[in-house]
Amino acid sequence: MMTDRFPIVSQTELAPGIFQMVLQTPQMAQEARPGQLVDLYCAEKDKLLPRPISLFDADPEEGTLSLIYAVVGKGTEEFSTYDEGDTVRVTGPLGTGFPLDRAADMNEIFLVGGGLGIPPMFFLAKCLHALYPEKPIKVFLGFRSEPWIGDIFTPYAEVLPSSDDGACGFKGTALDRMTAYLNEAGACARILYACGPIPMMRAIQPFAEEKGIETWFSLEERMGCGFGACYGCPAKLKAADGTTVLKRVCKDGPVFPGKDVIFS
Ligand code: FES
Repeated sequence: MMTDRFPIVSQTELAPGIFQMVLQTPQMAQEARPGQLVDLYCAEKDKLLPRPISLFDADPEEGTLSLIYAVVGKGTEEFSTYDEGDTVRVTGPLGTGFPLDRAADMNEIFLVGGGLGIPPMFFLAKCLHALYPEKPIKVFLGFRSEPWIGDIFTPYAEVLPSSDDGACGFKGTALDRMTAYLNEAGACARILYACGPIPMMRAIQPFAEEKGIETWFSLEERMGCGFGACYGCPAKLKAADGTTVLKRVCKDGPVFPGKDVIFS
């Protein structure tokens, strides 16, 4: 983990209010793992708390990290005004990331992303494909309407999109799409990695348990310090002895075993 100011290589608005920022950060690009976060700091002093943003991609050869974020407040609004050549203070990479080794003994890999949980699935698909080129990877992506991302997954995985209005060819949630797929598919050992809104993951939890699918959730939580010092990002988890433990999303997570997460 490191903190420094890094130059912005490019900034693109992918859809209204959704931006992709590419940073020149050679060391972080080497260290980055899918599911990890970086903290971005605003220039203005009245917005001291960093904004955690998950990694969309990392390119160790180019020395770049790519982030996708939505403008949801003053901090991200400020980031969206930055241009190529500007610098931004970044801490990272943070957190544990997805356990890629858990897929080694599986026959099929499911990635499920909703909303801003979709971007981290790209880096994950790319790394899983590099590790296990023979294993089929299915990516279930949930959109409100028209997909704003998807084609880029094609070299690494099969994308099965869904949307509230059916604009992508399937009307329903990512879980509905996964259910439809499983109704047709045969039985095999599967693992599921998910990131997205809490209701999506809350619905996946009993579904995966019933189907016997090992599940890993990347949680999004409001954060304070962003590096494990303030305990401002608690996640409730079931411990092995049945008690409830509090973990820090920014440092102990953001990825946790799906069966252990307690959604309140
Ligand atoms: Fe401070 Fe997680 S934000 S411990």
